Amino acid sequence: MTLDELEIKCKDCTNCDLCEGRTNLVFGIGKKDADIMLIGEGPGENEDLQGEPFVGRSGQLLDKFLASIDLSRNKNVYIANMVKCRPPHNRDPKPEEQEQCIKWLRQQFKIIKPKIVICVGRIAAQRLIDKDFRVTKQHGEFIDKNGTLFMGTFHPAAILRNPNNKELAFSDWLKVRDKINELGIEI
Ligand code: URA
Repeated sequence: MTLDELEIKCKDCTNCDLCEGRTNLVFGIGKKDADIMLIGEGPGENEDLQGEPFVGRSGQLLDKFLASIDLSRNKNVYIANMVKCRPPHNRDPKPEEQEQCIKWLRQQFKIIKPKIVICVGRIAAQRLIDKDFRVTKQHGEFIDKNGTLFMGTFHPAAILRNPNNKELAFSDWLKVRDKINELGIEI
């Protein structure tokens, strides 16, 4: 199955209650065979309205971090979320919602086959790296999982709330650039 075919199937998903509140399902965006994949938490209001991940204020900051290391959703990364429909009032997605939605994410992984996966924020890092992941302690560390490197970093929304972490987050993205160079990934 291609990513486009998967997206068409996913758009009709009713596997959990989040489908009831959505304007648009937010499947993901970017290069369909990207070596670098980013996973956020879930759509917010702007994303729900536009059907694209990270298009609000957080997204603008994320795009700046990406641009600083020559990455872009228009060119060389793929961006998705742990859940594809907006949780009401932007609450954290519930474990059962993540459990349902990760089935789609696993299929996205299988098709895209990224070499590096960046977990943007606690929710993705705790589900994909370590259930006790602490962003403040473990950000910027690469972990090999079956040949794919996973790294967790600060969520841009958290940086907007606490700009003191901006430098630390920037250093994480520089580590991504170093890892891309070290692995000889062509971007
Ligand atoms: N926050 C996320 O985690 N994902 C989005 O798509 C937007 C905001």
